[in-house]
Amino acid sequence: MKKKVLLMGASGSGKTSMRSLIFSNNPASLTARLGATIDVEQNHVRFLGDLILNLWDCGGQDAFMDSYLSTQRATIFSHVGVLIYVFDAESRERAKDLEYYRDCLDALRRYSSEARVFLLVHKMDLVREGERKGELERKRRELVKESSGMGVTVFGTSIYDESLYKAWSRIVHTLIPNAAVLSRHLTTLAEACSATEVILFERTTFLVIATSASPPSASASSPPTVSLPPLPSPPRSLKSPTSPSFSLPQTDPEPEPEEPEDDPHQMSPTRYERTSELIKAFKYSCSRFLRQDFHALEMELAEFTAVLDELTKNTYVMIVAHDPTIETAALRLNIRLARRKFE
Ligand code: GTP
Repeated sequence: MKKKVLLMGASGSGKTSMRSLIFSNNPASLTARLGATIDVEQNHVRFLGDLILNLWDCGGQDAFMDSYLSTQRATIFSHVGVLIYVFDAESRERAKDLEYYRDCLDALRRYSSEARVFLLVHKMDLVREGERKGELERKRRELVKESSGMGVTVFGTSIYDESLYKAWSRIVHTLIPNAAVLSRHLTTLAEACSATEVILFERTTFLVIATSASPPSASASSPPTVSLPPLPSPPRSLKSPTSPSFSLPQTDPEPEPEEPEDDPHQMSPTRYERTSELIKAFKYSCSRFLRQDFHALEMELAEFTAVLDELTKNTYVMIVAHDPTIETAALRLNIRLARRKFE
């Protein structure tokens, strides 16, 4: 029986919005039109070869929550691999939110004690900018305490910036059984190309699956092991071999994370998520304005060269190199040669 991913949280906390953004590529502006989820909506998202994400979006209205915790308890909480519980950062019903959360954790302990738990403090954009860090930390402490000994990972998220991709990339990464092997193969590919970094994306969602450097870890605080200049925001232009080049729309309303001024090679901690967002916007532009499918692209900037190409049926790979003598054609050839290893 395939393990499922439960997406739970109070009504209006933003569960269906994040699902439609990540898995259906809908823009954030359209989420306001989504209706309330009635009972449970099940989605099977083929992720990587045999890896199918069995996502259960559980409508959060009180009547549904009560039924998950009573008559449907065993059905909902059995065979759970991951519970993603969403809290509205600006909820007016904190006590009730926490009570439901505690009850859900109790049920999870009973029916799927091995499940991992991820808590998303969502709609962080609604918290005043200067207060976000402190508020998230306060919430993290509160939620860890409420989880009474159960290991939980807390993320602050919003549909209006890359934080949502970051959280989902980390969550999905934990679901991939051979993630360490993938990372090793990517490191070998990086070395073969004299590349600074190689990144593997899932094809539809563009979530980051693995990287050649230290993979996205759930602790989020491990120091970088390679040095990369930050990705420009946005790249000046993206050149797709099958389409004319044009500039991308600005999609990054968040301020840049602080980087020491005297170290130009400090890598940007949000580069994966920003790349995902930009590529998705570019893909969308290709299909909408050029009526062409996106297949691959090459970026040749003063600071670095990058090639993004299909690796397997369900993945794209991106190779970033800082040596100006490395030709993009050589990188693409190496991707072609590496395909067999990853299929
Ligand atoms: P139920 O289906 O009733 O359980 O609700 P839900 O948790 O699925 O909530 P839904 O996704 O329908 O979102 C409710 C509202 O929150 C929508 O109007 C969204 O546009 C809005 N919303 C979702 N995410 C965010 C966010 O990150 N920031 C802000 N400001 N609004 C958001």
